[in-house]
Amino acid sequence: MDIIKINDNSDKLYYIGGIVRDKLLGVRSLDVDITYVGNAIDYCSKFGEVIQENPDFGTVRVNVGGHAVDFASTRAEVYAKKGHLPVVTKIGCSLKEDVMRRDFTVNALAMNISTGEIVDYVGGQEDLKNKLLRVLHDESFIDDPTRIIRALKFRVRFGFELEEHTRHLQEYYLADINYDMSYKRVKKELIETFNLNSQRAFEIFVNEGMYRLVSPENFELPKVNIEQLIKKYPVNNVWLVYIGLLPDLSRLEFTKEERKIIEDFRAIGDLKNDFEIYKAFDGLAAESILLYGISKELRVVLRYFDVLSHIKISITGEDLKHLDIEPSPEYQKIFDCVLKAKLENPEMTFDDEIKLAKNVKK
Ligand code: CTP
Repeated sequence: MDIIKINDNSDKLYYIGGIVRDKLLGVRSLDVDITYVGNAIDYCSKFGEVIQENPDFGTVRVNVGGHAVDFASTRAEVYAKKGHLPVVTKIGCSLKEDVMRRDFTVNALAMNISTGEIVDYVGGQEDLKNKLLRVLHDESFIDDPTRIIRALKFRVRFGFELEEHTRHLQEYYLADINYDMSYKRVKKELIETFNLNSQRAFEIFVNEGMYRLVSPENFELPKVNIEQLIKKYPVNNVWLVYIGLLPDLSRLEFTKEERKIIEDFRAIGDLKNDFEIYKAFDGLAAESILLYGISKELRVVLRYFDVLSHIKISITGEDLKHLDIEPSPEYQKIFDCVLKAKLENPEMTFDDEIKLAKNVKK
């Protein structure tokens, strides 16, 4: 997203967080965060029609020349309940207080909208130069463990590394996790991180024990390169092909579709021949099939995707009716027989199939 032109010379409007980081890195931003030192709802309504406002957080969305722009008031927060959403203690605090509630120094930079001046209370510019992720205080991961996954996301997206003390704080936290945390937020970060489809992210996630935030028991890195696999066999829910491998997913809340993907994958048993492979995988989401390949038998999955899934029988129920076979469970038996034969001999023609169907019927 590009920076939107806003005519203001109050000296109190700042781009803040990710957008400043991205601007200094010279990369495109995913979203634009603007903060007003004071009450944004009172001040920013003058930039255009107010689309939405949330007085509890001091935020307002305004239509600025056709763009929906979110303005936030500077705010101070406390993590009254560790691992959960913070409580806003003050709206309209100083810029410094607003910055100090944030996750990493590189995300705690502000840029004055009218002058372009960078305000850096925490050494974020230096860390950005050195590609280091540094928390602002020692309680940061205790307050919000999702920051561990956020750090992973930024490590992979920008090639950042954890600053040494921050790495220690992560290790301390992961050695003694408080499982009473907001898994809704954890899930959001997992989706954003693993939708990047990065084998490296998964290796770090496993090797540094971040997976224990979700699934406490030991988990070993599968031998398969998941990134390559997904590049060859694309799926909609990329993140689930990584996270679905964890043995304990009970803390995450899944949509119906996501739950089905996991349940289908877990229900697949041993597959001994082409017919069993076909019957087990036919109609399943590709995610479920990949999860099986990664955790159990990749060979079987490759055979299915590359060969078996392209084989289809041609005869239909209508054809069987024309053979004077009454619609009944017998139909399935006949289709299965024809399928078995066609998997062995994919060259079978429609006439061959009819001939076989007649034979089965007898
Ligand atoms: N933030 C934080 N702790 C979190 C989430 C967010 O301190 N758990 C702060 C950071 O300062 C971050 C800002 O809120 O920069 C905005 O959050 P978000 O939009 O999620 O992240 P961005 O840094 O903007 O990154 P992205 O490019 O992924 O949107």
